Order: sequence, then C-alpha cells, then structure tokens
Amino acid sequence: MKIVKTVEEVRAQVREWRAEGLSVGLVPTMGYLHEGHASLIKTSVRDNDRTVVSVFVNPMQFGPAEDLESYPRDIDRDAELVQLCGGDLIFNPEPEEMYHDGFSSFVDMTVLTQELCGLSRPVHFRGVCTVVTKLFNIVKPDKAYFGKKDAQQLAVIRHMVDDLNMDIAIVGCPIIREDDGLAKSSRNTYLNADERKAALVLSKSLALGAGLIRNGEKSCDRIIDKMKEYIDKEPLARIDYVKIVDCGTMQQIKELDRPALCAVAVFIGKTRLIDNFFTEDL
Ligand code: PAF
Repeated sequence: MKIVKTVEEVRAQVREWRAEGLSVGLVPTMGYLHEGHASLIKTSVRDNDRTVVSVFVNPMQFGPAEDLESYPRDIDRDAELVQLCGGDLIFNPEPEEMYHDGFSSFVDMTVLTQELCGLSRPVHFRGVCTVVTKLFNIVKPDKAYFGKKDAQQLAVIRHMVDDLNMDIAIVGCPIIREDDGLAKSSRNTYLNADERKAALVLSKSLALGAGLIRNGEKSCDRIIDKMKEYIDKEPLARIDYVKIVDCGTMQQIKELDRPALCAVAVFIGKTRLIDNFFTEDL
C-alpha cells in the first residue's frame, strides 16, 4: 500500500492499473478513519480490482466559524487502517496541491442543498461538489463509495454525477454505529465523557421517531415535535435541525405519504453531529 501526495503520482498509478485492465474504486475521506470508513473501503475492495482512498481535509467545505483547524488528522493511523482493509493507494495531498494560486472554478448545485446541512452550512456543498469533482477527475474511478450518515451529501453527489454526465457509479453504504447506537464519526473524538453520553440523544430521538412511524403516525410535525421534546431534555444538547424531507428533493414534507428521510443535526457542547434514517428502511 502506497501513500502519494501529488495528482501526477495518482494518475501514473491509475494509468498502470488501467493498462493491466484493472477496475478502480475510490473512497473519498477527510481522514481520521473509523469503522464507517473501513466498511466503505472493504466494500470497494470487494467490488474493484484496486482501491484508492483519498485523505484530504477539504478547506473549501468548512465555513469560517467551523472546525477546519481542529479537525483530527493522523495519516499514520489512517494508513494502518487502509492497509488492514486491503486498500491499495492513499492520496493525501496538501491543500496547495488541490487548490493552486488563482484557483477559481467551482461546482455548485441549486437544488437539494437548500435544506438540512445546506441551510446550516451555506458554503458546505459547493466545497464538497468541487472537491469530489476534482477527485473524480484525478482518479477516474469506476465506482465511488459514500456513507449514508451524510445522506444529503450522497443525494447531492448522485445528482451531480447525473447532471454532469460523470461516468462513475455512486455506491451508498450503511451507517456504522457504536454498540450503544451512536453513529461513527471522526468528530466523536471531540466529545468528553459527559458529552459522549449526551450524544446518544441523536440515535435515541431517531429511534423514537421511527417507533412513532411504525405505529402509524403520518404527521411529520407531530413526529418532529416529539423528537425535539426528547432532545431538549438533554442539557448538553442544542438542536440545529430535526427534519423530515422527501428523499428525492430533500424538501420538507408535512405528511408521510412518500419515501422520506428523517434527519437530525445536534450540537453536543461545541460538536455538531448528524444522524438519520430512511423511512423505507423501517
Ligand atoms: O464525507 C466526507 O468525508 C467529505 O465530505 C468528502 C466526501 C470526503 C469530501 O471532502
């Protein structure tokens, strides 16, 4: 398993693989890898002859008051995990390699990004779409793998690939959780012991919402109110959003009369965490 830092090195390696007729999978990440990433890498290794994992904390998708500086980084630890999962190449560029002086082209989307994380983080999806497009152009993978914890991101990337005729299959992989239900996230490392306990309000509020839906509740307002009431009881939690949206448009709906995504974003102390479920999976 190799770690490379330049676009040229990735291209040279991928050219060699292509000359041998091998298929290539890409797992884009921001590093500090956990079991969620491991499941993406293992799925890619199973589906493709070769797997590239990009490790790049993308400055463009962070707002000015967000955690770009403190975002956890440990490339040696990441390399061990990629090796264990059977990955073949890590692309770990410096910001200057991805965004040279005078960089001024962006990929942006006017649909799907107006709600949920797009509303709370206005520059986020422009940064994601731009960097993912660049990674796709650099690696030219057959398939690319993204986690369903970032459900809106997955929808945005699928839409972008379709809009821009990118010849890449997008594979969405299930959320991986801790034993007590907390969705795995690199940002969980920010939590102290009390916050770690408090963070369970995300998965537990979703379980509450899912229970109401299973019992036949159709009113999104009633489900959301109950979930918010539950989260508000936790003193360390501050709700960013609790929403139910149409899976296709990511727009809020009133009645559960179509496949929907129930998504939460909650600050636990200073750490913003997200989680969700799709009603179709209930
Ligand atoms: O999901 C992430 O980790 C990032 O948003 C991604 C897709 C690697 C782009 O920077």
